[in-house]
Amino acid sequence: MSGYVLAIDQGTTSSRAIVYGPDARPIATDQKEISQSFPRPGWVEHDGAEIWQSVLETCRNAIRRAGIEARDIAAIGIANQRETCLIWERSTGRPIHPAIVWQDRRTFNVCEALRADGVVSLVQDRTGLLLDPYFSATKLAWILDNVEGARRAAEAGQLLCGTIDTYVTWMLTGGAVHATDATNASRTSLFNIRENCWDDELLAVFKVPKGLLPEVRDCADDFGQAIAVHFGSEIPIRALAGDQQAALIGQACLTPGMLKSTYGTGCFVVLNTGDQIVRSSNRLLSTIAYRLDGKTTYALEGSIFMAGAAVQWLRDSLKLIKEASETGPLAHLADEQEDVYLVPAFTGLGAPHWNSQARGAIFGLTRATGIAELSRATLESVCYQTRDLLEAMACDYPMEVTGATLRVDGGLSGSDWAMQALADCLGSVIERSQNQEATALGVAALAGSKAGVWPHLASFATNWKAKGRFTPNISTDERARRYRKWRAAVASTLSYAA
Ligand code: G3P
Repeated sequence: MSGYVLAIDQGTTSSRAIVYGPDARPIATDQKEISQSFPRPGWVEHDGAEIWQSVLETCRNAIRRAGIEARDIAAIGIANQRETCLIWERSTGRPIHPAIVWQDRRTFNVCEALRADGVVSLVQDRTGLLLDPYFSATKLAWILDNVEGARRAAEAGQLLCGTIDTYVTWMLTGGAVHATDATNASRTSLFNIRENCWDDELLAVFKVPKGLLPEVRDCADDFGQAIAVHFGSEIPIRALAGDQQAALIGQACLTPGMLKSTYGTGCFVVLNTGDQIVRSSNRLLSTIAYRLDGKTTYALEGSIFMAGAAVQWLRDSLKLIKEASETGPLAHLADEQEDVYLVPAFTGLGAPHWNSQARGAIFGLTRATGIAELSRATLESVCYQTRDLLEAMACDYPMEVTGATLRVDGGLSGSDWAMQALADCLGSVIERSQNQEATALGVAALAGSKAGVWPHLASFATNWKAKGRFTPNISTDERARRYRKWRAAVASTLSYAA
């Protein structure tokens, strides 16, 4: 069998398909943006049919560009934006409501009511997560309660639900497979991460009928066959993983204590904690890193909502730049005397604050503040937020912030200026992966090794290479001074929201 692997990376802003050759090098790719819908303040939706069409189209284009036939592909792996969920008709595959995206805050009041009911520690203990609208459970219940007849249809077994991996798998297999993997399940608030099963008590708390849910399998497993009608011949689906967990694998962080930071729409720092569920005292998440051959590896995760999205704000809302790539060169020109801090709490603040009510703020403006200084403050805000996550992690897990090495990937990691600023801010060495598409590579590695055409994941770790390396270049005092100012800016932002 030939060793081509097709990786699907269905992300928040786009769907991507990458064909990897037998030597695990990318040989063809295609990408399509997906529409973002904001029907009300704080609401974010995607069209399930558009997601499916974009996946199908990008896969077909990538296969064509690779100059191969579908029958040459040994396996498909699917990585996806996590928590975003859909409910669809079992008989047709038609979603009964748009997908509610992970960023959506519409169930804030539901979460507050549940908090008042005293379920916080039950949720945290069983799932490792916080009680927050971010996760899928309250989103699924919202659809059942707001689409006419949905609860009745769900009880009658006419509906199915899932995160995006599950929906894409269902569609690829022509409705034959309704399954997810342990990483995606661990982000729903319905999955018991110690017992590795859907938790009946949580299903009752969140009012989600069990019959709607997919079967949970290992990340590298048999997820059926993409039917011939899609690509000309059948292709086995052999891996599913949430995108941040896939990136952890793509960055070869396969031993406890290794961590990576991915800079996409948001930023997600994930630390491999091995077979230990590390309970955070600093509002980080305990989650499943991967489950292979029935063995679960856990992770500690810090999520921030605005990384690349803050740069998009400069481009799309303020219209200060035309391309995201302009920010690095602009930041380079910024006046060193200008001490400007942007707290990009546009949709609240994620870890370690988890404050949904906070809103963005800029501190330190003068008459001389211009596009260059705002660009610098925007890129630096991503660095300071990363430091906030690492400081919190270091309180929960024995690790260093200053002096450690951090592996980075994702769009914003392409900016040399931002990565140097990150090294300066953390006092750590930053290693940019040779493969910025760590998510796709990670899920391809899972699928390729499961299909037996790529070597075992362990060999993957020895082949990992950095393409860029950034070392800290400012004094310890200056680092401390800047971080103090950032902390003060965040404290003021939070007190304004209170
Ligand atoms: O938890 C949400 C995360 O999986 C989204 O990642 O890369 O699509 O912004 P991304």
